Amino acid sequence: MRPLAFFLDLHPTLGDFHDDIIEGLAKEQKSISPKYFYDERGSELFKEITEQPEYYPTRTERNILLANAPEIAAAPGPNTAVFEYGSGASEKIEWLLNGLDRPAAYVAMDISRDFLIDAASAIADKFDLPVAAVCADFHGHVRIPPDILPEPSRWLGYFPGSTIGNMTPPFAARFLQRAAETLGPGAQFLLGVDLEKDTSVLNAAYNDAAGVTAAFNLNLLTRMQRELGAQLGMEDFEHRAFYNEEACRIEMHLRAKERTTISLDGREFSFDPGETLHTENSYKYSINRLKALFEETPWRLETVWTDENQWFAACLLSNN
Ligand code: SAH
Ligand code: AVI
Repeated sequence: MRPLAFFLDLHPTLGDFHDDIIEGLAKEQKSISPKYFYDERGSELFKEITEQPEYYPTRTERNILLANAPEIAAAPGPNTAVFEYGSGASEKIEWLLNGLDRPAAYVAMDISRDFLIDAASAIADKFDLPVAAVCADFHGHVRIPPDILPEPSRWLGYFPGSTIGNMTPPFAARFLQRAAETLGPGAQFLLGVDLEKDTSVLNAAYNDAAGVTAAFNLNLLTRMQRELGAQLGMEDFEHRAFYNEEACRIEMHLRAKERTTISLDGREFSFDPGETLHTENSYKYSINRLKALFEETPWRLETVWTDENQWFAACLLSNN
């Protein structure tokens, strides 16, 4: 295997998981950040979700990118370095690296450490360019270590999969502001965003018949048991996902089927029957709401590509 140009580990600690869970379980509406879905098993389950027939975002985005590949890849120009946020299995990057004119470098960043290292190493093996990895929480500020990679003509931020939809709109605006600082003046940003559509399509995508999304959601409880020693009855909880039309978002919850408790560090968190732990939001945008979001950031919208149903959008932004 070809070595990575660098591996920067700013990985959130077990202590963070512990403290966030305690804080989240103590809230009136119990909640936890979706970033804790992605242990090794969670990352595998997400990959499986993307293969389910009901989960349209991945294949729709891929089709948009492939249909417009020459135009999209030509936009940043030669000698561009790519910084991918939430790179996961680093699958979508291949078409971009293949299309770019002599790309200068690729930096993958994700919170899921082992998955990230494997995926970035596989890209380093396949492509003849410096590849690096950063294990970090993209809600924090990330600085690309200077002087290790060759100086590119510009940076291109790449954030596919509508992972931005897992942030509330104010967090999404802050994320984009920080990305502009990380990538510097003259950068571009290619962002994949899921769009509003028929509620039945949305509800089906998060309630696949094979139960993979349910397993992904419930894996959070397994992770709490394994990593934090939490005591809970797995069979007391069920997956629940629905579109909240007013808030324009899918909500995922772990719902107590009956009265139950989660014990952690001598503390007891009780659930009434039907009470939930809110595990994820997945916001769906209209093009107009996207424009309003970008206006709160240093980025200017250059081009939007979409599919024939207008289900998903790939947006090219620049901060010239
Ligand atoms: N880009 C891929 C994967 C999307 S899944 C695709 O389009 O299919 C979301 C990815 O974001 C996962 O790999 C997960 O580990 C990562 N992620 C989630 N929250 C994160 C956070 N707060 N900081 C960094 N990475 C995060
Ligand atoms: C990563 N993210 C964009 C996915 C989504 O659709 O919000 C995570 C996911 N949750 C359930 N299914 C997929």
